[in-house]
Amino acid sequence: MQSVKRLLIPLLIGAAVLAVSVGGWVYLSGAIGEQGIGGIGGPFTLENAAGQTVTDRDLRGRYLLVYFGYTFCPDVCPTTLNEVAGAMDALGKRADRVQPVFITVDPKRDIPKVVGDYVAAFSPRILGLTGSAEQIAAVAQAYRVYYAAQSSKDGGAYTVDHSSILYLMGPDGRFITPIRADQSAAEMAAEIGRHLS
Ligand code: NI
Repeated sequence: MQSVKRLLIPLLIGAAVLAVSVGGWVYLSGAIGEQGIGGIGGPFTLENAAGQTVTDRDLRGRYLLVYFGYTFCPDVCPTTLNEVAGAMDALGKRADRVQPVFITVDPKRDIPKVVGDYVAAFSPRILGLTGSAEQIAAVAQAYRVYYAAQSSKDGGAYTVDHSSILYLMGPDGRFITPIRADQSAAEMAAEIGRHLS
């Protein structure tokens, strides 16, 4: 009995120390999570294709694959979204845990229905989001995304320069890793798959 006690007490103390450390770590990561590691990500309020409000909190519980672009983009955005759609197919069942999100940096032209129709053409899995100029500026800043409308020389449609990078966010909203947008669907799927716990 004495020997069991001798064994049990250190075990209990060990478990208590472990619980406190894990608790502290979870608390700390929770605090970091509000800003995102490296300051990437954070709270946002946007609109879906139906004009309904969508916040970062509404999207918790699944991994997010976030991309910023615009529907009039001549080449990079369509290519990227095509590969993202392919990557989701390549992930198979695991794709259910990943929500691809397309956020426009051209809210003036990309009204909710325009964004919704655009992403639907690539994959029904992609969530298209837009918002006011201020909301887009805020989310772009949170994700450290650069974008700048270029005035057209001939008075025609303008283009928007923008950084082209995918952000993999965790189910808790924390930034996990950037994913290069100029990869094939198979490469993207492999990289995403490595980060799914
Ligand atoms: Ni683009």
